[in-house]
Amino acid sequence: MTDRVSADREARIRRALEHLRNDTTDQVDKIEPFEAAEFTDPVLAARERDLVFGRVPSIVAHGSELPKTYDFKTIRMPRNNVIISRQKDGGVKAFVNLCRHRGALLEEESCGKRRLFSCPYHRWSYDIDGSLRTITRDNTVGEVDRTTLGLVELPCEERHGFVWIVDRVGAPIDVAGWLGEEFDEILSGYELGSLHCVREEGFDEPVNWKIMQDAFLDGYHIQYAHPNTAGKIIHTNIMAFEDFGSHARFVAPRKTIDRWLEEDPGDESLVNYVTETHFLGPNSTLLKQPDHFQLLTFRPHHSDPARSVMEMRLIVPSPEKAGIEQAKWERLWEKNWQILLDVLHAEDFPVLRASQRGMSSRDSGPMLLGRNEVANHLFRRTIQRLLAESDEEVTGAP
Ligand code: FES
Ligand SMILES: [Fe+2]
Repeated sequence: MTDRVSADREARIRRALEHLRNDTTDQVDKIEPFEAAEFTDPVLAARERDLVFGRVPSIVAHGSELPKTYDFKTIRMPRNNVIISRQKDGGVKAFVNLCRHRGALLEEESCGKRRLFSCPYHRWSYDIDGSLRTITRDNTVGEVDRTTLGLVELPCEERHGFVWIVDRVGAPIDVAGWLGEEFDEILSGYELGSLHCVREEGFDEPVNWKIMQDAFLDGYHIQYAHPNTAGKIIHTNIMAFEDFGSHARFVAPRKTIDRWLEEDPGDESLVNYVTETHFLGPNSTLLKQPDHFQLLTFRPHHSDPARSVMEMRLIVPSPEKAGIEQAKWERLWEKNWQILLDVLHAEDFPVLRASQRGMSSRDSGPMLLGRNEVANHLFRRTIQRLLAESDEEVTGAP
């Protein structure tokens, strides 16, 4: 880490400490009203699938989940069922998970290793680069141009250790461009590609994806929804925030920082006294803990606005890098993972399911985002901007 980067981080942490001393937090200029339809309207949900996920890159895996040639994963994206597959040249490709004969789902497993993808229906098979390898009983099928019958490829790029996809055939992909120079540099400083995804799980929840994402950008609910867990560790409603357009970074002080409330820390590093959160637009939260990262990803259901999938990943240094033996390393992360799961299932999910039920009232009345809910404002603005810009592209209207 450069001196400039660490000095900058220490300055942001001191700003959070100052907020804590004064019982303040970063704020946006004004309260923002919103309506329940943002989380229930099927027409808006369809526009988000096309104009957000079909347009900008979002993370679908960490590279260590498919480290070797022939490794694959399948994902239900908002628009397409997708296979991602590690290639012979070390790259990753993404395809629509569908057989080009009569459309059967080509791969049913969620992950594994395949030298070729073989369709369960009539056994047509495809190479891992997507090209059509075999048409069974081809003398009876008739003349077809095999070069046009490969798997449909989706834009895919590996960057900062993650695999990113734009969920629309033929769309351009430029992860660095989407992140912007500064945010791209921040992520590169974390060397996430050298880490290991030790646990990964998806949760299908009866909740709109934006309600889910909002909760994991929210520093205001901690002591109320998590009084005996996170609320004991992290201060509530204290945030030092930085805006990177469609992305953001903010620090929240841990309770251990209280020892510096009265005392001046001087040049002492305060990095271990905070949690640093990143919003990777459009749909991920990356939490930087002192010794590891946690990635949370939120994806809309392919048709129902009131459903989504959250994926959680624990991304950690290898045992060698951490300097601990394998068995101890396993136990450490298993324990960590179980704590995260317990909080999600016992505390976050019930509150969020209830939010979705709340939003289903036809006469909900307007609601609001407070000036203190800074990261939620940025998330909402990002999605609204993408929808508006896409309208411009489609209609030519300003
Ligand atoms: S649908 Fe796949 S081989 Fe027929
Ligand atoms: Fe929470």
